[in-house]
Amino acid sequence: MPADPAAERPTAVIATGGTIAMLADPETGVRRPTLTGAQLAAAVRGLDAPLTHSQPYAIASEDATYEHWLTLVREIQRAAADHNGTVVMHGTDTMEEAAYFVSECLPDTAVAFCGAMRPPGELGYDGGRNLLDAVTVARSSEARELGTVVVMNHEVLPAWDVVKMDSVSLSAFGTRHGTRIATVHERRLRLLSRPLRFNWYGTVPAAAPDPDAVAYIRLTGSPGRRRISAAIGGATGVVVDALGAGSVPASVRADLIAVAASVPVVLSTRTSSGPIQAEETYPHALDDLIGAGIALEKRLDGARARIRLSLAIALGRDYEPLEVLH
Ligand code: SIN
Repeated sequence: MPADPAAERPTAVIATGGTIAMLADPETGVRRPTLTGAQLAAAVRGLDAPLTHSQPYAIASEDATYEHWLTLVREIQRAAADHNGTVVMHGTDTMEEAAYFVSECLPDTAVAFCGAMRPPGELGYDGGRNLLDAVTVARSSEARELGTVVVMNHEVLPAWDVVKMDSVSLSAFGTRHGTRIATVHERRLRLLSRPLRFNWYGTVPAAAPDPDAVAYIRLTGSPGRRRISAAIGGATGVVVDALGAGSVPASVRADLIAVAASVPVVLSTRTSSGPIQAEETYPHALDDLIGAGIALEKRLDGARARIRLSLAIALGRDYEPLEVLH
Protein backbone atom coordinates (compact mmCIF):
# COMPACT_ATOMS: atom_id res chain seq x y z
CA MET A 1 0.00 0.00 0.00
CA PRO A 2 1.38 3.47 -0.81
CA ALA A 3 1.64 5.83 2.20
CA ASP A 4 -0.98 8.13 0.67
CA PRO A 5 -3.29 6.35 -1.80
CA ALA A 6 -4.57 9.74 -3.04
CA ALA A 7 -1.07 10.55 -4.30
CA GLU A 8 -1.35 7.63 -6.76
CA ARG A 9 -4.48 9.05 -8.36
CA PRO A 10 -4.27 10.66 -11.77
CA THR A 11 -4.40 14.41 -12.24
CA ALA A 12 -7.23 15.69 -14.43
CA VAL A 13 -6.10 17.79 -17.39
CA ILE A 14 -8.96 19.85 -18.83
CA ALA A 15 -8.12 21.47 -22.17
CA THR A 16 -10.21 24.45 -23.28
CA GLY A 17 -8.20 25.88 -26.21
CA GLY A 18 -6.03 28.99 -26.28
CA THR A 19 -2.59 29.62 -27.77
CA ILE A 20 -1.23 26.60 -25.89
CA ALA A 21 -3.26 24.47 -28.31
CA MET A 22 -3.19 26.64 -31.47
CA LEU A 23 -1.83 24.47 -34.27
CA ALA A 24 -1.42 26.05 -37.70
CA ASP A 25 -3.46 24.62 -40.55
CA PRO A 26 -0.75 23.37 -42.97
CA GLU A 27 -2.60 24.80 -45.98
CA THR A 28 -3.91 28.15 -44.81
CA GLY A 29 -1.57 28.87 -41.90
CA VAL A 30 -4.62 29.80 -39.79
CA ARG A 31 -4.18 28.73 -36.19
CA ARG A 32 -6.96 26.89 -34.37
CA PRO A 33 -6.99 25.29 -30.90
CA THR A 34 -6.71 21.71 -32.14
CA LEU A 35 -3.84 20.30 -30.04
CA THR A 36 -5.36 18.14 -27.30
CA GLY A 37 -4.11 17.88 -23.74
CA ALA A 38 -3.18 14.22 -24.34
CA GLN A 39 -1.13 15.10 -27.44
CA LEU A 40 0.71 17.89 -25.63
CA ALA A 41 1.35 15.80 -22.49
CA ALA A 42 2.74 12.92 -24.61
CA ALA A 43 5.34 15.30 -26.08
CA VAL A 44 6.60 16.73 -22.76
CA ARG A 45 9.78 15.10 -21.54
CA GLY A 46 9.59 14.24 -17.86
CA LEU A 47 5.81 14.41 -17.65
CA ASP A 48 5.32 10.92 -16.27
CA ALA A 49 2.49 11.57 -13.77
CA PRO A 50 -0.75 9.66 -14.40
CA LEU A 51 -3.21 11.96 -16.19
CA THR A 52 -6.77 11.82 -17.48
CA HIS A 53 -7.89 14.17 -20.24
CA SER A 54 -11.09 15.97 -21.13
CA GLN A 55 -11.97 18.86 -23.37
CA PRO A 56 -15.39 20.42 -22.72
CA TYR A 57 -14.73 23.05 -25.43
CA ALA A 58 -11.84 24.35 -27.56
CA ILE A 59 -11.91 28.09 -28.17
CA ALA A 60 -9.76 31.18 -28.18
CA SER A 61 -10.32 32.59 -24.72
CA GLU A 62 -11.65 35.94 -25.94
CA ASP A 63 -14.82 33.99 -26.80
CA ALA A 64 -15.17 32.55 -23.30
CA THR A 65 -18.43 33.35 -21.50
CA TYR A 66 -19.82 32.73 -18.03
CA GLU A 67 -21.50 29.66 -19.60
CA HIS A 68 -18.06 28.28 -20.54
CA TRP A 69 -16.65 28.95 -17.08
CA LEU A 70 -19.61 27.35 -15.34
CA THR A 71 -19.13 24.28 -17.58
CA LEU A 72 -15.48 24.30 -16.52
CA VAL A 73 -16.41 24.56 -12.83
CA ARG A 74 -18.71 21.54 -13.18
CA GLU A 75 -15.99 19.55 -14.97
CA ILE A 76 -13.52 20.41 -12.18
CA GLN A 77 -16.10 19.44 -9.54
CA ARG A 78 -16.60 16.06 -11.22
CA ALA A 79 -12.85 15.46 -11.41
CA ALA A 80 -12.11 16.54 -7.82
CA ALA A 81 -13.59 13.40 -6.23
CA ASP A 82 -11.17 10.89 -7.73
CA HIS A 83 -8.22 12.91 -9.06
CA ASN A 84 -5.08 14.29 -7.53
CA GLY A 85 -5.64 17.94 -8.51
CA THR A 86 -6.84 19.48 -11.76
CA VAL A 87 -4.93 21.34 -14.47
CA VAL A 88 -6.80 23.66 -16.83
CA MET A 89 -5.20 24.54 -20.17
CA HIS A 90 -6.65 27.96 -21.06
CA GLY A 91 -6.06 30.91 -23.35
CA THR A 92 -4.07 33.60 -21.60
CA ASP A 93 -6.20 36.59 -22.64
CA THR A 94 -8.95 35.84 -20.11
CA MET A 95 -7.12 33.33 -17.94
CA GLU A 96 -7.13 35.59 -14.89
CA GLU A 97 -10.90 35.97 -15.08
CA ALA A 98 -11.55 32.25 -15.65
CA ALA A 99 -9.28 31.37 -12.72
CA TYR A 100 -11.04 33.93 -10.53
CA PHE A 101 -14.49 32.58 -11.50
CA VAL A 102 -13.38 29.04 -10.59
CA SER A 103 -11.85 30.24 -7.33
CA GLU A 104 -15.10 31.97 -6.30
CA CYS A 105 -17.13 28.82 -6.97
CA LEU A 106 -14.68 26.16 -5.69
CA PRO A 107 -12.30 27.86 -3.25
CA ASP A 108 -11.13 24.62 -1.60
CA THR A 109 -10.28 22.71 -4.75
CA ALA A 110 -6.74 22.33 -6.15
CA VAL A 111 -6.76 23.85 -9.64
CA ALA A 112 -3.69 24.97 -11.63
CA PHE A 113 -4.31 26.99 -14.80
CA CYS A 114 -1.67 27.12 -17.51
CA GLY A 115 -1.38 28.38 -21.06
CA ALA A 116 1.23 29.57 -23.49
CA MET A 117 2.43 32.92 -24.79
CA ARG A 118 3.84 31.36 -27.98
CA PRO A 119 1.93 28.89 -30.13
CA PRO A 120 3.07 25.29 -30.75
CA GLY A 121 5.86 25.02 -33.32
CA GLU A 122 7.15 28.56 -32.68
CA LEU A 123 10.59 29.17 -31.24
CA GLY A 124 10.21 29.39 -27.47
CA TYR A 125 6.86 27.57 -27.30
CA ASP A 126 6.17 27.57 -23.58
CA GLY A 127 3.07 25.35 -23.45
CA GLY A 128 4.80 22.07 -22.63
CA ARG A 129 6.88 23.55 -19.83
CA ASN A 130 3.89 25.37 -18.35
CA LEU A 131 1.81 22.17 -18.47
CA LEU A 132 4.59 20.23 -16.72
CA ASP A 133 4.84 22.93 -14.02
CA ALA A 134 1.05 23.07 -13.57
CA VAL A 135 0.87 19.27 -13.13
CA THR A 136 3.66 19.53 -10.52
CA VAL A 137 1.68 22.19 -8.64
CA ALA A 138 -1.66 20.34 -8.89
CA ARG A 139 -0.07 17.15 -7.50
CA SER A 140 1.86 18.85 -4.70
CA SER A 141 0.89 18.33 -1.08
CA GLU A 142 0.23 22.09 -0.82
CA ALA A 143 -2.18 22.14 -3.78
CA ARG A 144 -5.43 22.16 -1.81
CA GLU A 145 -4.28 25.03 0.37
CA LEU A 146 -3.27 26.98 -2.75
CA GLY A 147 -6.79 26.70 -4.21
CA THR A 148 -6.92 28.05 -7.76
CA VAL A 149 -3.64 29.38 -9.11
CA VAL A 150 -2.14 30.38 -12.44
CA VAL A 151 1.14 28.65 -13.29
CA MET A 152 3.04 30.49 -16.02
CA ASN A 153 6.75 30.95 -16.61
CA HIS A 154 7.68 29.01 -13.43
CA GLU A 155 5.57 31.29 -11.18
CA VAL A 156 2.56 30.27 -9.09
CA LEU A 157 0.18 33.23 -8.77
CA PRO A 158 -3.15 33.41 -6.93
CA ALA A 159 -6.41 33.68 -8.85
CA TRP A 160 -7.58 36.73 -6.88
CA ASP A 161 -4.56 38.83 -7.85
CA VAL A 162 -2.96 37.50 -11.05
CA VAL A 163 -2.95 39.69 -14.16
CA LYS A 164 -1.63 39.43 -17.67
CA MET A 165 0.62 42.50 -17.70
CA ASP A 166 2.28 42.16 -21.06
CA SER A 167 0.69 41.19 -24.36
CA VAL A 168 3.60 39.13 -25.72
CA SER A 169 6.34 38.47 -23.15
CA LEU A 170 6.98 34.95 -21.86
CA SER A 171 6.92 36.54 -18.40
CA ALA A 172 3.57 38.19 -19.11
CA PHE A 173 1.92 37.29 -15.82
CA GLY A 174 2.35 39.10 -12.53
CA THR A 175 0.09 40.24 -9.70
CA ARG A 176 -1.52 43.59 -8.88
CA HIS A 177 -0.52 43.51 -5.25
CA GLY A 178 2.81 41.76 -5.75
CA THR A 179 1.55 38.47 -4.32
CA ARG A 180 3.80 35.55 -5.25
CA ILE A 181 2.94 32.19 -3.79
CA ALA A 182 5.63 29.89 -5.14
CA THR A 183 7.98 29.06 -7.95
CA VAL A 184 8.17 25.73 -9.71
CA HIS A 185 11.32 24.44 -11.37
CA GLU A 186 12.46 20.94 -12.33
CA ARG A 187 9.27 19.43 -10.91
CA ARG A 188 9.76 21.04 -7.49
CA LEU A 189 7.41 23.55 -5.92
CA ARG A 190 9.09 26.12 -3.67
CA LEU A 191 6.59 27.91 -1.44
CA LEU A 192 7.40 31.61 -0.92
CA SER A 193 4.34 32.68 1.04
CA ARG A 194 1.20 31.17 2.50
CA PRO A 195 -1.91 31.81 0.40
CA LEU A 196 -4.50 34.11 1.99
CA ARG A 197 -7.98 32.86 2.90
CA PHE A 198 -10.89 34.99 1.72
CA ASN A 199 -14.65 35.33 2.14
CA TRP A 200 -15.33 33.58 -1.17
CA TYR A 201 -18.95 32.98 -2.10
CA GLY A 202 -17.95 29.31 -2.42
CA THR A 203 -21.16 28.31 -4.19
CA VAL A 204 -21.71 27.03 -7.71
CA PRO A 205 -24.67 28.89 -9.24
CA ALA A 206 -27.46 26.77 -10.73
CA ALA A 207 -27.23 28.76 -13.96
CA ALA A 208 -24.51 30.95 -15.45
CA PRO A 209 -24.61 34.61 -14.40
CA ASP A 210 -26.11 37.00 -16.93
CA PRO A 211 -23.15 38.76 -18.64
CA ASP A 212 -25.39 41.76 -19.31
CA ALA A 213 -26.45 42.17 -15.68
CA VAL A 214 -23.49 44.30 -14.60
CA ALA A 215 -22.40 47.54 -16.27
CA TYR A 216 -18.64 47.97 -15.94
CA ILE A 217 -17.33 51.53 -16.30
CA ARG A 218 -13.69 52.57 -16.28
CA LEU A 219 -13.47 56.24 -15.38
CA THR A 220 -11.09 58.60 -17.18
CA GLY A 221 -10.32 62.27 -16.96
CA SER A 222 -13.07 64.25 -18.69
CA PRO A 223 -15.63 61.42 -18.53
CA GLY A 224 -18.72 61.77 -20.70
CA ARG A 225 -21.59 62.09 -18.28
CA ARG A 226 -24.30 61.18 -20.79
CA ARG A 227 -22.40 58.10 -21.98
CA ILE A 228 -21.90 56.90 -18.40
CA SER A 229 -25.47 57.58 -17.48
CA ALA A 230 -26.63 55.57 -20.56
CA ALA A 231 -24.31 52.67 -19.67
CA ILE A 232 -25.54 52.33 -16.08
CA GLY A 233 -29.22 52.86 -16.86
CA GLY A 234 -31.09 49.54 -16.75
CA ALA A 235 -28.19 47.58 -15.26
CA THR A 236 -28.81 45.08 -12.43
CA GLY A 237 -25.47 46.07 -10.89
CA VAL A 238 -22.66 48.52 -11.61
CA VAL A 239 -18.87 48.31 -11.18
CA VAL A 240 -16.91 51.53 -11.52
CA ASP A 241 -13.14 51.70 -11.79
CA ALA A 242 -12.45 54.96 -10.00
CA LEU A 243 -9.35 57.07 -10.53
CA GLY A 244 -6.37 56.60 -8.22
CA ALA A 245 -7.25 55.91 -4.61
CA GLY A 246 -10.97 56.20 -5.32
CA SER A 247 -11.54 59.61 -6.87
CA VAL A 248 -14.82 59.98 -8.72
CA PRO A 249 -15.34 63.14 -10.81
CA ALA A 250 -18.08 65.43 -9.53
CA SER A 251 -19.78 65.28 -12.94
CA VAL A 252 -20.73 61.59 -12.55
CA ARG A 253 -21.21 61.30 -8.79
CA ALA A 254 -24.87 62.21 -8.76
CA ASP A 255 -25.70 59.56 -11.37
CA LEU A 256 -23.83 56.84 -9.44
CA ILE A 257 -25.53 57.84 -6.20
CA ALA A 258 -28.91 57.78 -7.93
CA VAL A 259 -28.41 54.34 -9.44
CA ALA A 260 -27.13 52.98 -6.09
CA ALA A 261 -30.59 53.57 -4.67
CA SER A 262 -31.91 50.65 -6.71
CA VAL A 263 -28.99 48.35 -7.65
CA PRO A 264 -25.65 47.34 -6.09
CA VAL A 265 -22.77 49.62 -7.09
CA VAL A 266 -19.13 48.66 -6.47
CA LEU A 267 -16.16 51.02 -6.61
CA SER A 268 -12.76 49.58 -7.55
CA THR A 269 -9.71 51.44 -8.85
CA ARG A 270 -8.29 51.59 -12.35
CA THR A 271 -4.71 51.76 -11.01
CA SER A 272 -2.56 48.74 -11.68
CA SER A 273 -1.94 48.20 -7.98
CA GLY A 274 -3.00 49.50 -4.59
CA PRO A 275 -6.38 49.74 -2.85
CA ILE A 276 -9.15 52.32 -2.78
CA GLN A 277 -8.12 54.49 0.13
CA ALA A 278 -9.41 57.97 -0.58
CA GLU A 279 -11.66 57.97 2.49
CA GLU A 280 -8.63 57.35 4.71
CA THR A 281 -6.26 59.82 3.04
CA TYR A 282 -8.87 62.54 2.49
CA PRO A 283 -11.42 62.25 5.31
CA HIS A 284 -15.06 62.44 4.11
CA ALA A 285 -14.00 62.35 0.42
CA LEU A 286 -16.25 59.34 -0.22
CA ASP A 287 -18.95 60.02 2.40
CA ASP A 288 -21.65 60.68 -0.19
CA LEU A 289 -20.85 57.46 -2.12
CA ILE A 290 -20.53 55.31 1.01
CA GLY A 291 -23.72 56.87 2.38
CA ALA A 292 -25.50 55.82 -0.82
CA GLY A 293 -24.47 52.21 -0.14
CA ILE A 294 -21.72 52.01 -2.76
CA ALA A 295 -19.30 49.20 -1.82
CA LEU A 296 -15.56 49.91 -1.78
CA GLU A 297 -13.67 46.98 -3.31
CA LYS A 298 -10.11 47.26 -2.00
CA ARG A 299 -8.62 43.98 -3.26
CA LEU A 300 -10.04 43.20 -6.68
CA ASP A 301 -9.63 44.96 -9.99
CA GLY A 302 -12.77 45.98 -11.83
CA ALA A 303 -12.87 42.93 -14.10
CA ARG A 304 -12.90 40.64 -11.09
CA ALA A 305 -15.31 42.84 -9.15
CA ARG A 306 -17.63 42.47 -12.17
CA ILE A 307 -17.41 38.67 -11.89
CA ARG A 308 -17.98 38.76 -8.14
CA LEU A 309 -20.99 41.03 -8.49
CA SER A 310 -22.38 38.96 -11.40
CA LEU A 311 -22.06 35.81 -9.24
CA ALA A 312 -23.61 37.56 -6.23
CA ILE A 313 -26.60 38.55 -8.36
CA ALA A 314 -26.88 35.00 -9.81
CA LEU A 315 -26.77 33.58 -6.26
CA GLY A 316 -29.24 36.12 -4.86
CA ARG A 317 -26.59 37.39 -2.43
CA ASP A 318 -25.49 40.90 -1.45
CA TYR A 319 -22.12 42.09 -2.76
CA GLU A 320 -19.43 41.72 -0.11
CA PRO A 321 -16.00 43.19 -0.89
CA LEU A 322 -13.30 40.51 -0.91
CA GLU A 323 -11.85 40.37 2.60
CA VAL A 324 -9.07 38.32 4.17
CA LEU A 325 -10.30 35.86 6.81
CA HIS A 326 -8.11 35.65 9.89
C1 SIN B 1 -6.33 33.18 -26.07
O1 SIN B 1 -6.45 33.77 -25.01
O2 SIN B 1 -7.04 32.21 -26.38
C2 SIN B 1 -5.33 33.62 -27.08
C3 SIN B 1 -4.10 34.16 -26.46
C4 SIN B 1 -3.34 33.15 -25.64
O3 SIN B 1 -3.76 32.07 -25.29
O4 SIN B 1 -2.19 33.52 -25.29
